[in-house]
Amino acid sequence: VMALALTACGSNKNEQAASGGEASPSAPASPSEAASPGGEKAVIKVATDASYAPMESMDKDKIVGFDVDFLDAVMKEAGLDYELTNTGWDPLFADLEQGDKSSYDMAISAISITDERKQTFDFSIPYFESVNMILTKEGATIANALELKDKKVAVQGATTAEELMKGIMGEGNADLKRFDSNTLALLELDSGGVDAVVADFAVVQAFVEQHPDKKYAAMYDKTNFAPEYYGIMLPKGSGLKAKIDAAVEKVRASDEYKAMYKEWIGVEPDTTDLVN
Ligand code: ARG
Repeated sequence: VMALALTACGSNKNEQAASGGEASPSAPASPSEAASPGGEKAVIKVATDASYAPMESMDKDKIVGFDVDFLDAVMKEAGLDYELTNTGWDPLFADLEQGDKSSYDMAISAISITDERKQTFDFSIPYFESVNMILTKEGATIANALELKDKKVAVQGATTAEELMKGIMGEGNADLKRFDSNTLALLELDSGGVDAVVADFAVVQAFVEQHPDKKYAAMYDKTNFAPEYYGIMLPKGSGLKAKIDAAVEKVRASDEYKAMYKEWIGVEPDTTDLVN
């Protein structure tokens, strides 16, 4: 008898299937959009890369963060049961790229809506305004993003930060170091392997606040880094988009949104630029 060590992927309502921070997805056996034989309600499978606090991160075996609370509100609004899994960043894109053959139905992971991604994926209407920010050690003499050209910089690979820094430092520049997770990029700065990390403002600011002893500094450069908007990402042609959009539109205008923004980001949200 073979004892398969399957990661529990329970179909309990709104239950998280967090895989303990490991970036190894336990792919569900079948896509969840089809109704199960028993006629019970399908559970929507949602992927994330839970190494991007305060947006999504692991707290012991639970995924927590702004995106987690936002997703919950959206799915309640849409009347959908779901299950959130920590798949890691690259696997999330590799999966949803497979369209109707993908194992997951959607992803929420501080994913910026970009023209390039829109060629391969569908996105909900935007739910969060972001911008990339520069993280250095205090005392670093960097006035703006262009001055990172001759420095060593760490980024999470396949992010907008990587794209922006490729533009500044040059495509094949070995001083632009790419990591599978933002956590690894932050460790590289801590160990002195790089002069800076570029990542989304909420993540950079939270990191500075959480390590007062380490004397990190965070810097905006709104000239070289343009505003970005997060969307819930879906496989191209997903039948869920209309339902999700309607729910996002409601939740992003709610007091609940304001409260979760305050809780995770620390300030009041400015949602004026969140237009469809
Ligand atoms: N907003 C950036 C992007 O879409 C970075 C997102 C990284 N998210 C994460 N959970 N690691 O490229």
